[in-house]
Amino acid sequence: MGITVWERRDVSVASPGPPSAADAGDWERLAEEVRSCTRCPLHAGRTQAVFGVGPRTAAWCFVGEAPGAEEDRRGEPFVGRAGQLLDSMLRALALDRREVFIANVLKCRPPGNRDPEPSEVASCLPFLRAQIAAVRPRILVALGRFAAQSLLATDQPLARLRGRVHDYEGIPVVVTYHPAYLLRRPADKAAAWADLKRAREVADHE
Ligand code: URA
Repeated sequence: MGITVWERRDVSVASPGPPSAADAGDWERLAEEVRSCTRCPLHAGRTQAVFGVGPRTAAWCFVGEAPGAEEDRRGEPFVGRAGQLLDSMLRALALDRREVFIANVLKCRPPGNRDPEPSEVASCLPFLRAQIAAVRPRILVALGRFAAQSLLATDQPLARLRGRVHDYEGIPVVVTYHPAYLLRRPADKAAAWADLKRAREVADHE
């Protein structure tokens, strides 16, 4: 299976059982907290906060950096060009977007898509941590440096973080390139595919 084509494979969408009403209430409260958040100055420039998307019972959780312009407009993570590549990466893993949980470290768009500030990450990270604690996925895939460094509480460069399996509160974490980076550097798709295959192996043995 070629990395550069990210071919579609047969996809079976998991149909997890309904979560309990209490879980649903907690989740909705968390979503409302994110939607109305004013913890950092980014709230002033947003069209809307981008909570995340996917079932609360997802086995896979993909974590990106922050919403871009399209995500800010539509209220869903990874719906722009980088999102199209993420969808292809999911298909290469025989996953469908509807069965995985996708969220960002920051829930609001930084102006001009600049890098997140440490203070913004510090304000917003508790939301992601609460989401992961609720979903308890079998595997976390960190997309790019910010997601990896934030989840793993490290300042190690991406090159040092790729290629091994990390731990986030008992959940295995695989680090790979951000899809936006892969759009700029398609030559690195082969290395990203190796990361994703590692994630698949780990998820299948969890
Ligand atoms: N890049 C990200 O990190 N997240 C998105 O939701 C979109 C682009």
